[in-house]
Amino acid sequence: MEIIPLRPGFGAELRGVTLADVAADDAVYADVRKAFEDYSVLLFRGQDVTDEGQLAFSRRFGPPEVTKVGSLGTGSHFVILTTIGPDGKVVPADHRYALRNRANQLWHTDSSFKSLPALTSVLSARIMPDHGGETEFVSTRLAFERLDSALREKLENSYAWHSYAYSRGKIAVGLATAEELAALPPQCWRLVWRNPVNGRGSLYIASHTYAIEGMEPAAGEKLISELMAAVPARGLSYEHRWHSGDVVMWDNRATMHRGRPWPANEARYMVRTTISATAADGLEAMRPPPRLAAE
Ligand code: OGA
Ligand code: MN
Repeated sequence: MEIIPLRPGFGAELRGVTLADVAADDAVYADVRKAFEDYSVLLFRGQDVTDEGQLAFSRRFGPPEVTKVGSLGTGSHFVILTTIGPDGKVVPADHRYALRNRANQLWHTDSSFKSLPALTSVLSARIMPDHGGETEFVSTRLAFERLDSALREKLENSYAWHSYAYSRGKIAVGLATAEELAALPPQCWRLVWRNPVNGRGSLYIASHTYAIEGMEPAAGEKLISELMAAVPARGLSYEHRWHSGDVVMWDNRATMHRGRPWPANEARYMVRTTISATAADGLEAMRPPPRLAAE
């Protein structure tokens, strides 16, 4: 396996390894897992991608999420991100599918609004637009490490609230349905996720983050927007231009990502598998004191 770094300090393309190798071979998985802990974003090119193969690969990293209500693929282990409607035609720009893609164009990490957050997401492009439609990544680990030590310490001992309704509300009123709201109450997590393998901390924030526990709402929003702005600073993002056979996985503990726009009349079809975080991934230290979790 060859590791080709993509950006200073994060992101790597892995060569000489297939998804099937990882699924079948413990030693290959161990090497890829090490690269995942080190680089946060991994790119595999030229893969022979099937739903089953993507899921078998993903399962190596932990338990797969079951897709939530209101998403395409609900009840399965797959999230379908598409602009192709049930009639096979590209949906109009104000269609729910298109608006969901727009919500994914806000910087975020996946599943911080769920009661069980995600370790990693694995994404494959099945139909790509001719222009645009890239997926861009930034390291919230490098962003955290750039902060001064007093702020790092304060953040490490702070908790933030995450809500699906909040991030969807930025795109369109009612984009989150009553069914989704009922299934997805706000969640509170520590603001810094410490990786138990290498000890490095990352900011754990996203488009879903709306309040800091114990801070006045306005002051909390100000801090959140300052942190959100600090993460992609310095132009150190990795923007992935999708080609057929590409698979990208990312560490939701240590990165944010966003989709990039593409012409509304062009089809795009992506398939995501998502793996829940476990105690071995540092999840327990993320939980707030019981007093907060119960709110
Ligand atoms: C995702 C996501 C962005 C994109 O799959 O979680 O945010 O480029 N995707 O489609
Ligand atoms: Mn996402």
